[in-house]
Amino acid sequence: MGEKGQMALVTGASSGIGRETAIRLAEKGFKVIAAARRRERLAELADQAQGITPQQVDLSDPEDVERFCREISNLQESVSVLINNAGYSIRGALEDVSMEAVRRVFEVNLFAMIRVTQACLPGMRRLRRGTIVNLSSIAGKFTFPLGGVYASTKHAVEAITDALRMERYVLLE
Ligand SMILES: NC(=O)c1ccc[n+]([C@@H]2O[C@H](COP(=O)([O-])OP(=O)(O)OC[C@H]3O[C@@H](n4cnc5c(N)ncnc54)[C@H](OP(=O)(O)O)[C@@H]3O)[C@@H](O)[C@H]2O)c1
Repeated sequence: MGEKGQMALVTGASSGIGRETAIRLAEKGFKVIAAARRRERLAELADQAQGITPQQVDLSDPEDVERFCREISNLQESVSVLINNAGYSIRGALEDVSMEAVRRVFEVNLFAMIRVTQACLPGMRRLRRGTIVNLSSIAGKFTFPLGGVYASTKHAVEAITDALRMERYVLLE
């Protein structure tokens, strides 16, 4: 990583790990697309470092994810570094969590991550280079009481990530 002018996409860039990652990538010379819902946090981030472009998206909304992915696919320059960072945790006994909350956290932590990756992969193959970082968690390896739903999203992230790592070699042959 680190060649000047390459395009990076960081989801969940408005705070925490995503925000810091976006700044570090921009400092290394990447052009960074910083995606999240909170427009004002993204605007403030874009003022922090050169080369950061804010992109508002609600990753819990499949239609908005499609709109966002079309924009990513239509970029003149392909994304060569994808940081699938957006995600959050919900807690609660399984009998108490609403299906709406379950669906929403799966939309953000897993389905949007898959869809955004699908949008970036053709460009990476064209470039014949690419780095994808999927933010998992210790909850991707172990599960805890009241954390089953979150852990199930991150276990799925682990499975997708392992498969993608192997597909990389199969599809490059
Ligand atoms: N921090 C930890 O200790 C820890 C531990 C294990 C794993 N992780 C994982 O690391 C990643 C980042 O964690 P963090 O602690 O840095 O979290 P954070 O500070 O809460 O940031 C989460 C980011 O995800 C974005 N996001 C959440 N829902 C979204 C939605 N519907 N659409 C678009 N963006 C959305 C938020 O932006 P908006 O609210 O502006 O949309 C925010 O930028 C997550 O995947 C988390 O599961 C973190």
